[in-house]
Amino acid sequence: MAGVIGKAQEQVAQALEAATAALSLGAPADAVYVDEATGDDKDGDGSQAKPFKTVAGAYIARSSDAINVHVRQAPAEGQTEGSWAAATASAKKKAAKLLQTHKNKLAKQEELRKREEAEGEARRAAEAKKLEEAKAIVLEEPTTEATRIKIRQATEQRGKRVRVFGWVHRLRQQGGMTFVILRDGSGYLQCVLSGRLSQTYDALTLTLESTIQITGVINQLPEGKTAPENHELTADWFAVVGKAPGGDDAFLNQVNEDADPSQLADARHLVIRGENASAILKVRAALLQSFRQSYANLGLLEVTPPCMVQTQVEGGATLFAFDYYGEQAYLTQSSQLYLETCLPSLGDVFCVQESFRAEKSHTRRHLSEYTHVEAELAFLTFKDLLEHIEELICQTIDRVLADPKIKELIDHLWAGKGKFEPPSRPFMRMDYRDAIKWLNDHNITRPDDNGVEGPHVVGDDIAEAAERKMTDTIGRPIFLINFPKDIKSFYMSRVPGDEEYTESVDLLMPNVGEIVGGSMRISDLDELLAAYKREGIDPEPYYWFTDQRKYGTSPHGGYGLGLERLLAWLLNRYTVRECSLYPRWTGRCTP
Ligand code: 4AD
Repeated sequence: MAGVIGKAQEQVAQALEAATAALSLGAPADAVYVDEATGDDKDGDGSQAKPFKTVAGAYIARSSDAINVHVRQAPAEGQTEGSWAAATASAKKKAAKLLQTHKNKLAKQEELRKREEAEGEARRAAEAKKLEEAKAIVLEEPTTEATRIKIRQATEQRGKRVRVFGWVHRLRQQGGMTFVILRDGSGYLQCVLSGRLSQTYDALTLTLESTIQITGVINQLPEGKTAPENHELTADWFAVVGKAPGGDDAFLNQVNEDADPSQLADARHLVIRGENASAILKVRAALLQSFRQSYANLGLLEVTPPCMVQTQVEGGATLFAFDYYGEQAYLTQSSQLYLETCLPSLGDVFCVQESFRAEKSHTRRHLSEYTHVEAELAFLTFKDLLEHIEELICQTIDRVLADPKIKELIDHLWAGKGKFEPPSRPFMRMDYRDAIKWLNDHNITRPDDNGVEGPHVVGDDIAEAAERKMTDTIGRPIFLINFPKDIKSFYMSRVPGDEEYTESVDLLMPNVGEIVGGSMRISDLDELLAAYKREGIDPEPYYWFTDQRKYGTSPHGGYGLGLERLLAWLLNRYTVRECSLYPRWTGRCTP
């Protein structure tokens, strides 16, 4: 019993002590604290540890002026911290006014929200009603004959009734009319739906990338109006073939220019519908066609070597290996060795083939799969080879530029960034050793094995950045020739009388760097066998390549050109990734 009384007395004493402490601070237990020096109206909670900054802030936070606000006073002399005291009457009055203003503002906002909600509902109801009524409008197709055309034929079909199929590339509703820019891959055509046509359910719910068929007459536009090809189709009927989604799933939500690059890479199948991406692919097609025409003019025959091979061409480090029915095989790095075997059979040959490189580097000019334009020519000199490459490039580019449609696409892709300058002949010839001197004369350094920047020395494999600086400074195509044997491939022949160097060439273009790599080939059997040995290559799988030197050898040479790199130069693209249909690079094999 005595113990219980003792405990109760202790508790009373503690409560008294707490009450006295509170009184000494002048604050009741439900006080809300304000410290004008250290408080925060936004993040404070009104406790002593986290006070508000102003009395008004405290009122607004509690949504009331009937609270006990205590304000931190200036510290008395000799003290570091001021005590708490009840807010003054004038401070409370001012804060109460601010609280009222705040409440009025909230009330107004709420009123506006409700009004907008009501208006929104009314609008939605009206739209739903309009859509419901629109379903009743059924379009009958006129019975007059309509010629089915592709958009590229639109100009020649002006004035006649035509039928066009395509994708809704752009869409605008204005003044009761619907303007559609239709795309069918062959061009763009503005189509105008007016009257009942633009009031149908399909017109009102049309979305970008939907497919439609549309009939009507194409007319030249009057002065002052603009549309692709300066004409438009006045529709007399249309029907939806496949409707694309709207809302969250809408096309523009999938393909947004501001999206991060990996999202855009995932959506490449949609990105290629865009004007820039499709323009690049169209120029790419024209370029390939032009290459084939140039080769026909130069007397080279097209062959199609295999992609699955059992030999390397450009070193083991970049080989993609796979199991081929239990044997080791690779995806081809280059078709060169196969082209060489065609010379005795078909004469000079070329191919347009995918090459594969397991490149670990993430650079703007490296792909894991690229389109390789390669050629091999027999009984020629190194000088002939360089002249052939120069002729091939100039002829091919000139033909592409001579096509007004393609020229327009190239100009479009250069827009705002200057103009493509076709290369002038002859290309500059620069010996590898002169390039090393040029780099040093221009203070372009390279890191040594310890990462310390220093001058280039003969024997260096000139790095991409240094090569680019040199090419961009010189500003015209450069044939960089005669590389040291130690940094080049096993099959390259030596410069007669200068055996440490090879009859090799890289063609460098401004903005991109190397677009062609080529050389004369070792034509002597023993020299080739020695080269295998030096490089540690097992000659056995190369028996067919070696036979070239056994059964009637010939001096010969060839080269490979990276199509995407040539396009990056021609179209002023930052990276080769933009110049491939579905680019592959480290870690990217989709879509
Ligand atoms: O210089 P490379 O490796 O030469 C060869 O493959 C030779 N066997 C070709 C031959 O003589 N038939 O490659 C030739 C060209 C380069 O100049 C470059 O344009 C391109 O192929 N290339 C690449 N393009 C994109 N991504 C890559 N990873 C490339 N590697 C080479």
